[in-house]
Amino acid sequence: MCGIVGFTGQENALPILLKGLYSLEYRGYDSAGIAAFTQKGLEVVKTRGRIANLEEKIRETGGLEACCGIGHTRWATHGEPSDRNSHPHLGGKDGKSGEIAVVHNGIIENYLELRERLEAHGYVFQSDTDTETVAHLIDYLHTGKKEDLGMTVLKAVGMLRGSYALGVVSLDDPHEIVAARRANPLVIGLGEGENLIASDVTAIISRTRKYLILDDGEVAIVRPDSVKVMNEFGDTVEKEVQEVTWDLSAAEKGGYEHFMMKEIMEQPQAVANTLHPRIQDGHVVFEDQGLTDERLKKAQHIHIIGCGSALHAGMVGRSVIEELCRVRCQASVASEFRYENPIIEPDDICLVISQSGETADTLAAMRLAKAAGAYTVAIVNVVSSTIAREADGVLYLWAGPEIAVATTKAYSAQLGALYLFAIKLARVRGMLNADEEKTLCEALYKIPEQIGEMLQSKSQMQYIATRYANRSSIFFLGRGLDYAAAMEASLKLKEVSYIHSEAYAAGELKHGTISLIEEGTLVVALATQPALHEKTISNIREVVSRGAEVVLVTSADFDGDTSYCSHVVRLPALPHAFSPSLSIIPLQLLAYYIAVERSCDVDKPRNLAKSVTVE
Ligand code: G6P
Repeated sequence: MCGIVGFTGQENALPILLKGLYSLEYRGYDSAGIAAFTQKGLEVVKTRGRIANLEEKIRETGGLEACCGIGHTRWATHGEPSDRNSHPHLGGKDGKSGEIAVVHNGIIENYLELRERLEAHGYVFQSDTDTETVAHLIDYLHTGKKEDLGMTVLKAVGMLRGSYALGVVSLDDPHEIVAARRANPLVIGLGEGENLIASDVTAIISRTRKYLILDDGEVAIVRPDSVKVMNEFGDTVEKEVQEVTWDLSAAEKGGYEHFMMKEIMEQPQAVANTLHPRIQDGHVVFEDQGLTDERLKKAQHIHIIGCGSALHAGMVGRSVIEELCRVRCQASVASEFRYENPIIEPDDICLVISQSGETADTLAAMRLAKAAGAYTVAIVNVVSSTIAREADGVLYLWAGPEIAVATTKAYSAQLGALYLFAIKLARVRGMLNADEEKTLCEALYKIPEQIGEMLQSKSQMQYIATRYANRSSIFFLGRGLDYAAAMEASLKLKEVSYIHSEAYAAGELKHGTISLIEEGTLVVALATQPALHEKTISNIREVVSRGAEVVLVTSADFDGDTSYCSHVVRLPALPHAFSPSLSIIPLQLLAYYIAVERSCDVDKPRNLAKSVTVE
């Protein structure tokens, strides 16, 4: 959802900014731009399209020699993707010859009101964006005043409503970048004689591992040899220096053609990172989370919130928690939860699932649950992200950086964390005895290895993909846990291949949607739950008799007739509650290979962004 980078130091900023932008491209990629202080003054190059287009344009325009600048990669909210709507935006009466340039991630809600007032003061707008308002506002407040840019930005952000991470530069001081944040992430990388700003640490790690996290309402003044952070009153704030714990190679493709395939293949390790340290001597052991036995016993209701794949993981978690613990549990779409006046009791526990830890709707839903008295536990991958920092407790996934927009390894790790939580809760509430806990823990411990076995379905999935890549619609069916897994499989396919796809509760299809099944329609059916085998098989027969071709994903112990299926994938034996961890693997591979077959941009699907920091 837009990526920001800035550099100030001694070296040429251009390659550093471009490298930073490439690593942030997963956040949005419909246009890009850079503003830098060259010998000519404050120069801006921006264009619709990818970072590669920007690089090309900069080359055509003769390059940019500067040791300070800011860059942006955009996911459009206000105004179509176009050259003029690309960031940076210049502040100044004609919007062209400005002395101030701004990059922004977020949404300024009162931009129309501010725009009208600035137009009344003679400002002529060049774009349809909310961001240009910020550039002119800063120019208006700054011009002719003998005030530091940092103080002006502090005043300006006080007049903004909405969310923002901002990078601002001014001709006043061509070595200074001012950064500000409210509800959108921004970090400050601390180098030797150089400093950076960025939306996340992937953009700074090639220069430094040390960084500060800017908090809401703070403004930072970043120069090559100093960083000063102020709170909204202008008081200097001492920040804790953080350190990136993973290596640069973790955020590189490492020989794979796409990040998505690399991350699919990394799943055994990613899931082991989530599970193994927390399974000790047949028990689930959580690091100190405030998740005391007393709290776990008292909870009347477990709420799970998330968006996209995180929600789908939550749906699996909901079934497993209700099944094992017999406690009421609900998985909610974060953007609905926050506006539906949910019933939350003070003893409730709220599991907040998010790979990035920055998703705006999930964050808002968590704040609401917390304010209502629920105990919030974040299940998050990105360390020190906003959700992780604001939750009462955190279960980190430790899955390593995930770059492909379509999540794979973080989803699998989320399932692992939810299983751990379910076992712990069931044990504390007396629903499992020590032996049962041990049996489940042993099975859980083996899941990473079994995911490795499922990855061997690669060539089968590649073959199936070549057969069905030309379909215009693909259906996924399942009941119970298989339905939740089908939702994720369907989302994966549509995200990366642009094929219309629906996941249906197998028993519900006949109530209307079965009218869409015709000769040759592909139906992927999941039947991994013995108690529901027969029911799902009947539903599969219903679609087969209407001409559908079926790929069946089923459990090791299914001994029914499969002769009517075109392809069958079997899972190794495991407790049925954990089968979503294995059934999703071939279906991630299927989505990937279909997307490749259709020449889609697998890692950066159209219209999507990995981290959705706007509502
Ligand atoms: C975006 C991504 C999805 C992701 C969802 C939630 O829409 O494209 O793949 O599942 O956000 O992201 P989170 O970081 O909160 O898990």
